[in-house]
Amino acid sequence: MSVRFLSVAALVGLMLAGSPSLWATEQRQFDYMLNCQGCHLPDGSGNPQRQVPAFPGQLGKFLSVPGGRAYLVQVPGSALSGLSDDALAGVLNWMLVTFSAAELPADFKPYTGAELHAWRQTSPVDIERVRRELLERIAHQEQQQRKGT
Ligand code: HEC
Repeated sequence: MSVRFLSVAALVGLMLAGSPSLWATEQRQFDYMLNCQGCHLPDGSGNPQRQVPAFPGQLGKFLSVPGGRAYLVQVPGSALSGLSDDALAGVLNWMLVTFSAAELPADFKPYTGAELHAWRQTSPVDIERVRRELLERIAHQEQQQRKGT
């Protein structure tokens, strides 16, 4: 029994070592731990009393209103992080799927580094106002959807 257990463990170890996509996921989580988790916490719950918003139940909603896709890149925490464009795209995709899969739009397309490069260079001056406007758009859209059903 213990021999069998050992061989299964060895096999899983080999699979992990040989799986680039799994390694990529771990790299993203690691980037999140090093660059984002200090404020946003391991479970993405942040600190809403201190203006660090919670990701669960919310983050994916930004992608369904105009301006939201750029906003997630342009907040200072994202735009000014030391991450490369590709790494930032990877962390944002990882955060969306990990913390807010239920809110992702059906046609969700993962960020790419090339896509977010220009957004990063042009952060809006008043990011809090942009956030408020997006939240109003989201609320409005949810109201329309409730009326429609
Ligand atoms: C020093 C604290 C801090 C760090 C570190 C930080 N953030 Fe943030 N983050 C915030 C605050 C505060 C906000 C609210 C918007 C604002 O005022 O910038 C925010 C908002 C966000 C939002 C928008 C969520 C929403 O509901 O509006 C995203 C996306 C985000 N951060 C991503 C990141 C990523 C990715 C990293 C790491 C690369 C990161 N943040 C690191 C403090 C931080």
